Amino acid sequence: MEAIIDRLGRPIRDLRISVTDRCNFRCAYCMPKEVFGDDYVFLPKNELLSFEEIERFAKLFALLGVKKLRLTGGEPLMRRDLPKLIEKLMKIEGIEDIGLTTNGVLLKQYAQSLYDAGLRRLNMSLDALDPDIFGKLNGRGIKPDLILSNIDYAQKVGFEIKVNMVVQKGINEGEIIPMAAYFKERDITLRFIEFMDVGNDNGWSFEKVVTKKEIYDMISAVHDIEPADEDYYGEVAKRYRYLDNKAQVGFITSVSESFCSTCTRSRLSSDGKLYTCLFASEGFDLRELIRSGMTDAELLDVITGIWERRGDRYSDERTEQTAQYRKKIGMSYIGG
Ligand SMILES: C[S@@+](CC[C@H](N)C(=O)[O-])C[C@H]1O[C@@H](n2cnc3c(N)ncnc32)[C@H](O)[C@@H]1O
Ligand code: SF4
Repeated sequence: MEAIIDRLGRPIRDLRISVTDRCNFRCAYCMPKEVFGDDYVFLPKNELLSFEEIERFAKLFALLGVKKLRLTGGEPLMRRDLPKLIEKLMKIEGIEDIGLTTNGVLLKQYAQSLYDAGLRRLNMSLDALDPDIFGKLNGRGIKPDLILSNIDYAQKVGFEIKVNMVVQKGINEGEIIPMAAYFKERDITLRFIEFMDVGNDNGWSFEKVVTKKEIYDMISAVHDIEPADEDYYGEVAKRYRYLDNKAQVGFITSVSESFCSTCTRSRLSSDGKLYTCLFASEGFDLRELIRSGMTDAELLDVITGIWERRGDRYSDERTEQTAQYRKKIGMSYIGG
């Protein structure tokens, strides 16, 4: 079946599923400690979508054109029995690819069972190699060595790994070159993510963004790189290959070069709200509908209607004003 198309002609292709709103890190750009303190109330279990509900939604989205699923969070490895969910999702007709985004802390524990469940691709987040910088950034004092050794372990298990680094001005710019060298040597693609104004409490401003151009200039002053071909329509990262080995670097340029015009992504929060943009203010409560006993045909109609009305292009329209004053949902809730 042809994918459903939104008002700007964009097909639905990806569904990002947040499986938990909890996390074992407190990255200031995502879950600042001042907001997500000891008394923060996370969603109770009965408000999270069950695995059966997630599977049913994934099947419905696949019928509408979704080919790729990404599991995220919060920290997805904190959701109990995640490999069981992956096993179910792997069997869905039409789904060609499943990825998982993780901070990697719990990876050693779960890598083998995730692999056995059929998962092959991991995006791991790591913002610095310097222990002090990384310890501060993750808000928990976790050292990069743990993540690095878990990356090595997961590679040995057989995973294809990409590493994501969020760059913030004055915080971890100095880590760009060491990170590039480290992952180049290991043939792992490193993607630089521009600091984004997700949520309303991460202190974002344009001045704190290190743009793709700035990062590109730093890397190309040290390494010879050339543009790599786009892998598929709507690929978010602009990738470059090193001329002297197989590794690549990528840039996720939501701020300096928005990619709304080819955005094919839908997002399901851990409590079952559907968002058609990472920077949306409101989601559509699909959990209520699934729990009210709607049939598959009725749910398909609702989801189709939401996508067909979609006209989001927030990054195209971003200004200092919208970034500051527009209400936006948080990254840990929707999963990035
Ligand atoms: C919300 S996390 C969820 C998955 C997992 N906990 C992790 O960190 O990989 C997904 C991705 O969003 C990125 N992220 C979170 N807040 C961000 C922000 N304000 N700007 C850019 N990227 C952000 C994280 O670095 C991570 O790579
Ligand atoms: S970016 Fe990931 S690891 Fe960091 S606080 Fe957010 S959900 Fe947790």
